[in-house]
Formats: sequence, C-alpha cells, structure tokens
Amino acid sequence: MSENQKDNLLLAIKEEVVKCRECPLYKTRTLPVIGQGNHNAQVMFIGEAPGAKEDKTGVPFCGEAGQILNLLLSSIGVKREDVYIANILKDRPPANREPAPEEVEACAPYLLKQIAVIEPRIIATLGNYSTHFILEHFGVPESHLGISQLRGKKFAVQDPLTKKHYTVIPLYHPAVAIYNRHRLDELKEDFKIIASV
Ligand code: URA
Repeated sequence: MSENQKDNLLLAIKEEVVKCRECPLYKTRTLPVIGQGNHNAQVMFIGEAPGAKEDKTGVPFCGEAGQILNLLLSSIGVKREDVYIANILKDRPPANREPAPEEVEACAPYLLKQIAVIEPRIIATLGNYSTHFILEHFGVPESHLGISQLRGKKFAVQDPLTKKHYTVIPLYHPAVAIYNRHRLDELKEDFKIIASV
C-alpha cells in the first residue's frame, strides 16, 4: 500500500472515531486519542486507554507513562517518531477506571483497522488489557495468561481476515515502572527483544 493510501485510510479511521457514538465515553472525553506516529512503522505499540493528559492533548502516552515509554525507546535506540502508538480505547474512561468489556468491543475495531493499514512487523502490547485483547484476537492459546507470564515472549500470528503476519511481543505497561525501579529494569530487558526481531 502506498504512503498516500495509508494516510488517507488512517484519516478515514480518525473521522470515524471522532463521530463514533457506539459507547458513552464520547460524552465525557475532551479529545479522542486516535494514535500517533509513523504510518509505515515497523513497530506498533498498543496501550490501554488515554489518561488525563492524553485526554486534554489528544496525544497518546504524553503523561508520566509516556515519559517512561520515551526512555525505554531511547534505551534501544528507537525514535518515537519512527514507531506508531495507539490504544484500545480512543476515549478516556472517567477517573481512569478500567475499560468495560462493552467499551473494548465498541472501540477495538478501530485499532484493528489501524493495524491492518500500518502493517507493522511487530505489535508490542503494553500491559494486561491490550495483551489479552490482541492475543485473543489472533487466537493465541496463551491469551488467558497474565502479563507477568507473557512479558518478553514472542508470538508469530496471522490475522484470520487479512492474512497478514505479525510478531506480537507482550510487555509490562510502562506505568508499572513509575514507582518501581525493578519493573523498569525488566522493561528495559524486554525492550531489547523488540530491537532483536
Ligand atoms: N496509558 C495508556 O495505556 N495509554 C495512554 O495513552 C496513556 C497512558
């Protein structure tokens, strides 16, 4: 797919999200957080949902967890502008509560369309929510396991509909490292796997 086609398709997804009324989160959000980065990215990071700062700016991972993500990217020599970053939920759940299953069901199709357009080689899932969703979507039998068992593993998957191949790498959510130095060290180790694939 040409760069121009990708830009147009991603713009169309953005317009769909802006107009979406499939769940009530549009009523309480400030801005939808669609995604940011390189439309030809080799690596796509998938988080959970926007937090307070993301909701105000429309930019994914621009708050405290985002600072950690930036640090982890530079630890493997990858520029943030070379990857693509998105979330399962495009709108912030009030008071940062966990995504409800019906919100994931309503919003995830936008993420799946983004993946199909960007066609990254690697899908790096950040935290339990996105890991569970992506592994389950691709029919990986280990999808029920928790992130502490899955982190740093590699799963070769194929999309049943588009037939495209990806390597999924589950990682801890960067927010776990805000107050936990040990988790930051584990994240740094796991990020090295991204650079090695
Ligand atoms: N946490 C997420 O999962 N996504 C963001 O965009 C910010 C914080």
